[in-house]
Amino acid sequence: MSTAITTIGVIGAGQMGNGIAHVSALAGYEVLIHDLAEDRIRKGLATIDGNLARQVHSGRISEEDRKAAIARVKAATDVDALAACDLVIEAATEDEQTKRKIFAGICPALKPEAMLATNTSSISITRLASATDRPERFIGIHFMNPVPVMQLVELIRGIATEDETFEAAKGYVARLNKTATVSEDFPGFIVNRILLPMINEAIYVLYEGVGTVDAIDTAMKLGANHPMGPLQLADFIGLDTCLSIMQVLYEGLADSKYRPCPLLVKYVEAGWLGRKTNRGFYDYRGEHPVPTR
Ligand code: CAA
Repeated sequence: MSTAITTIGVIGAGQMGNGIAHVSALAGYEVLIHDLAEDRIRKGLATIDGNLARQVHSGRISEEDRKAAIARVKAATDVDALAACDLVIEAATEDEQTKRKIFAGICPALKPEAMLATNTSSISITRLASATDRPERFIGIHFMNPVPVMQLVELIRGIATEDETFEAAKGYVARLNKTATVSEDFPGFIVNRILLPMINEAIYVLYEGVGTVDAIDTAMKLGANHPMGPLQLADFIGLDTCLSIMQVLYEGLADSKYRPCPLLVKYVEAGWLGRKTNRGFYDYRGEHPVPTR
């Protein structure tokens, strides 16, 4: 089967989906974005336009590049439109049932030779592949947030992923001018297996009263040269996503060292999910973020 990729489908117009569409369009791919509601797609397209403008402003791309990229991204309100895609990347909520439902909905619309990928940050690729009609042409392509800025993409093969699929995914990442690392299919892969326990530990440090939000973030920014403090980063990733990843590590590796901090659970239960809801470990409703503890 041919693996030439010209058209990319992206499922989910949220922060990861619109970032994947952004970098794919800039690299010259035709892009179709699909989401449940049309206004979510519209919002995603507006974000892409804004982020491209940011790159023009800082001289990273030209105005012509921006215009050409935005012209390559189109809304696919109907799943049938995905029949044009050579590769479809799912970037929906980090929830296995949601992803399974999406695969069941889109697979019948895809051409038989199309590749399917997931941007899951922790769920088993082999298990997700089994929910599709094409485990051989299924792979994990895990981008980092913010996608237009971060250099890394993790590639994760499921047990059935064919070499041709893996090579095509490597080619796609190379054309994006990003660097791929290969991870085996174990919970959290490489980045989140290491990063999320660090963030969870920072939340325990807050929970136990060892330090304030400000002290913890300042400590790691100035003491370990991290570009963002761990609590700031948790808000940036989304606290619901952080909790889902910790649950996957906790259950998948069956080790109590991965137990999610009760304070993280409480914030998620409150609907304080970080930047996207304007409140998390910081309150973003004013001019400057203010720690919530
Ligand atoms: N689109 C395009 N450009 C963007 C952007 C976006 N969404 N966000 C930031 N930028 C650009 C800015 O325009 C700016 O560009 P120039 O250098 O050309 O001027 C540059 O990125 C830096 O941005 P800022 O000056 O606004 O802010 P900053 O210097 O504080 O950097 C940051 C912001 C890049 C996000 C930086 O704080 C950082 O690297 N943070 C850590 C991010 C991180 O760890 N990401 C991984 C999260 S884990 C993950 O994603 C895996 C998972 O599954 C959970």
